[in-house]
Amino acid sequence: MPKWAAVIMAAGKGTRMKSKLPKVMHKLAGKPLIAHVFDTVQQIGIDKIILVLGHGREQVEAYFNGRAQIVIQAEQLGTGHAVMQALPALQGVENVLVLSGDQPLFQTETLANLLNVHETEEAVATVLTARFENPYGYGRIVRSAGVFERIVEEKDALPEERLISEINTGTYCFKVEELSKALVELTPQNAQGEYYLTGVFGVFRRSGAKISTALAEDPGEALGINSRVQLAEAERVLRQRLLNYWMAEGVTIVDPSTTYIDSEVELSRDVVLLPFTVLQGRTKIDEDSVIGPQVLLENCRCGKGAEITHTVARQAVIGDGCQIGPFAYLRPGTELGAKVKVGDFVEVKNSKVGQGSKIPHLSYIGDAEIGQSVNIGAGTITCNYDGVNKHPTVIGDRSFVGSNSNLVAPVTIGEGAYIGAGSTITKDVPAKALAVERSRQVIKEDWRE
Ligand code: UD1
Ligand code: CA
Repeated sequence: MPKWAAVIMAAGKGTRMKSKLPKVMHKLAGKPLIAHVFDTVQQIGIDKIILVLGHGREQVEAYFNGRAQIVIQAEQLGTGHAVMQALPALQGVENVLVLSGDQPLFQTETLANLLNVHETEEAVATVLTARFENPYGYGRIVRSAGVFERIVEEKDALPEERLISEINTGTYCFKVEELSKALVELTPQNAQGEYYLTGVFGVFRRSGAKISTALAEDPGEALGINSRVQLAEAERVLRQRLLNYWMAEGVTIVDPSTTYIDSEVELSRDVVLLPFTVLQGRTKIDEDSVIGPQVLLENCRCGKGAEITHTVARQAVIGDGCQIGPFAYLRPGTELGAKVKVGDFVEVKNSKVGQGSKIPHLSYIGDAEIGQSVNIGAGTITCNYDGVNKHPTVIGDRSFVGSNSNLVAPVTIGEGAYIGAGSTITKDVPAKALAVERSRQVIKEDWRE
C-alpha cells in the first residue's frame, strides 16, 4: 500500500494561450510544462502519479506513453471536481500531493519540505503558500490572528481580502480518506460556478481537522503559466537555473546571456560553450569539447575534445576529437568516428564516416558509408537520389576522392582506390585502382589568332 501518490490537474484548456496545443504541452527548456511537474514529483520519490486530463488529452497521453496513470475529466467543472475524478485511483493510498500541470518551476526541495511539514505536523491538509508582491488572480490565504482560516479566490474576494499578499500556490497535501469525505460536500456556489478544490478547507475548518501551511521561500517557483507572456517569463527563470547548474558542474559558459540549454541536455566537466550556442533535446557532450560560437545541436551525442563551430546538427553522433565547421550541416543519421573533419559548407545525412576521414569543403554526403582515413575532395557529391529512390554509396578505407567528383549511387569505391578530379563515377571502382572519367584536355595552338 503506497503511503504517497500525486495528482496533477491538467484537464483545463488554457484559453489564454490561444493555441491548438493543450496548455500543459507547451514547452519550457524543450520539455512540456506537465513533464516538468511530473519529473519533479518523481524526484521527490513519489512513483504513483495520476494525471487528470481533458482538453487535448491524446497529445498528453502520447507524450507519456504509459509512464503515468491517467484519469479523464470529461467536463471541466473545477479543480475540486478534477481531484474527485482521481479518487478511485487513490484507493489504499494514505496521502496525496495535488499539483497543477501549469506550474512547472517548483524545485524538489520546496515540494519535499511541503511533504515534510504535512507529515511532521500530522495535518489532514497542508497548503503550499507564497508571498507575491502582486497577488492579482491568485487565491488568497485568509488568516485570523495568524491562524489559517480559508482560501478565497480573486473573483470571490472582498476588497480587503484582495490586499492579502499570501497566496495559494495550488499545491497541497491531503490525507486521502478525509479529502474524499470533504470533496462530497463541495458545491459550485461561487463567482465561477465551479467545484473549487479550495472549498475543502472550509469543510476541514468546520470539522476541526488539522490544517497546516508551508511557505515557498522563492515565490518565483510558484509562477503559474496562463499566457505566452508567462511562458516566456518561466523560460527565463528556468534557463538561468540550468545555466547556473551547469556552471556549478564545471562547464564554462562564456556568455550565459546568449547560451540556451534544454532541461534534458547532459554536459561533462570542462566543456566550453562559446556565445550563441543552443543545445536542444537530449544532446549529450563529453569533456573538453568546445562548442560555438553559433552552434545549434539537437539530440546530438558529442564525444570528448571535439570542436564545433557555426554548425547546425540534428540527431547526429560526433566522435572524440572531431572538428566540425564552420558552416557544416549534420542531419539525422550522421555518425562520425573519432577525429573526423567536416569542414565548411558540407552537408552530411544518414551516413557513417570512419575514424580520421576528412570532408573539408563544399560537399554533400548522403546515405554513404565512408571508411577510415578517407579524403573527400572539395565539391564531392554523392548522387544518392534518382528521382524515385535513395541509393547507398560505399567508400573503402584510405581511398581518395578527387575534387568535384560525382559518385552516382548505388556505387562502391574499393579500399585505397583513387578517383580523378572531376569524374562522374557510375561503376564500382576496385580496391587500389584509379578511376578517371573526363574527356582529355585538348590544346589548340595559336587558336586565338
Ligand atoms: C487555482 C486555485 C487558486 C490558486 C491558483 C494557483 C482553485 C479554485 N483555485 O486557480 O486558489 O491560487 O490555482 O495557480 O483551485 N483544472 C482541471 N479541471 C478543472 C479545472 C482546472 O484539471 O475542471 C486544472 C487546470 O488545467 C490547471 C489547474 O487545474 O492545470 C488549475 O486550474 P486553473 O483554472 O488554472 O485555476 P486557477 O484559476 O489558476
Ligand atoms: Ca492557473
